[in-house]
Amino acid sequence: MILYVGKGGVGKTTLAAATSVRAAELGYRTLVVSTDLAHSLGDVLAADLGAEPQELAPNLRAQEVNVLEEVRRSWGKVQDRLSEFLRQEGMPEIQADELAILPGMEEVAALIQIERQARTGEYDCVIVDAAPTGETIRLLSLPESFQWYAARVVEWRGRLRRIAGPLLSQVLPDLSVVDVMTQLAARVKRLRAALVDPDRSSYRIVLTPDRTVLREAQRAETYLNLFDYPVDAVFANRILPESERHDPYLEALVTRQKLVQQEICRAFPNLPRFEVPLTADEPVGLHALSALARHMFAERDPVEVFHVGPSQKIDRFGDGYLLRIPMPNVEVDKLELTKHGDELYVDVGNFRRELMLPLALSTFQPGVARIREGVLEVPFVSADAQRPANGDATNRPGR
Ligand SMILES: Nc1ncnc2c1ncn2[C@@H]1O[C@H](COP(=O)(O)OP(=O)(O)O)[C@@H](O)[C@H]1O
Ligand SMILES: [Mg+2]
Repeated sequence: MILYVGKGGVGKTTLAAATSVRAAELGYRTLVVSTDLAHSLGDVLAADLGAEPQELAPNLRAQEVNVLEEVRRSWGKVQDRLSEFLRQEGMPEIQADELAILPGMEEVAALIQIERQARTGEYDCVIVDAAPTGETIRLLSLPESFQWYAARVVEWRGRLRRIAGPLLSQVLPDLSVVDVMTQLAARVKRLRAALVDPDRSSYRIVLTPDRTVLREAQRAETYLNLFDYPVDAVFANRILPESERHDPYLEALVTRQKLVQQEICRAFPNLPRFEVPLTADEPVGLHALSALARHMFAERDPVEVFHVGPSQKIDRFGDGYLLRIPMPNVEVDKLELTKHGDELYVDVGNFRRELMLPLALSTFQPGVARIREGVLEVPFVSADAQRPANGDATNRPGR
């Protein structure tokens, strides 16, 4: 799966469509699919797309995932029953309601559907036109929260069984909610495994040469790194060609773009960069998209994995361990670490990664973290080696 991510309007849909057209021309059996509620993929491809994959050219199918409405309806029912179930069991009302609301369930369902298609073997590549950055990241972070959530529900069921025993079926006529949760948890787990596997998924950051867009792209890269999603390239879109004409306005624009381009190089030193020219006409329709893709990729294969970066890992380090998370663009003062038992929370801005630590680390304490050469390093030392603590620890990394 190839997923295009970036701020709204930078050209994700256009580049996803262009990539799919080129991939199909090269003989790959290709599916391009949109999870965006705005559904502009059909406009860009100049085709009427539906919920079923539609053949647009040899090897090329396109689809607008349409599970949203359906999931919203069926999830609504599950949600009501779930909060009722939790309340009956004695959970405070507010807590029960809160636990029953799972934001972004629709998007997760859409991704589950896409991943399932990617696995059928019907396609050589599946290209995903993702939603704008914030949405996508929130969505991508869900699988882990979801597992936490599903685990809690299953835990409650366990307690309920012990307390209520054979009376259970009278108190609760329908336990299928729990079955749904368990099944969903398993699917989400499989989805997450596919999304973090660099052999199966790559994320491509799309930006335009504007400073504000660049900042947002850097944040997107940080969040993708935080959740261990493999980024394989950066696409700079709407690049103005050198002009022969001596127009001071155009020249100023070209100069500005060049300066930001240099910043882009510095911001993503390890990622391959592709440049996409700003075309005079809107790149719409198979013909225009094919031409754009040839500019973008030249002789390169658009389906290739362009870069495999280091991923997160934990190594033995002296008497303890060292956790490494590559985060080249992280703003150090926005990072916070908290450990509770065998869970480590890494907070960056509004995003929280819950890392399940290996059992061996649960009795260790995180030391002072730091960023070195774009990698967040968290040492873990044996609790005995430290002054006795209450089991939890919070710290802010130093430099
Ligand atoms: N390289 C390009 N040259 C000219 N117009 C472009 C280019 N890339 C995108 N556009 C236009 O910019 C607008 C936004 O692009 P779109 O792909 O829909 O962005 P996103 O999906 O990121 O919101 C569309 O009208 C599209 O036709
Ligand atoms: Mg779009």
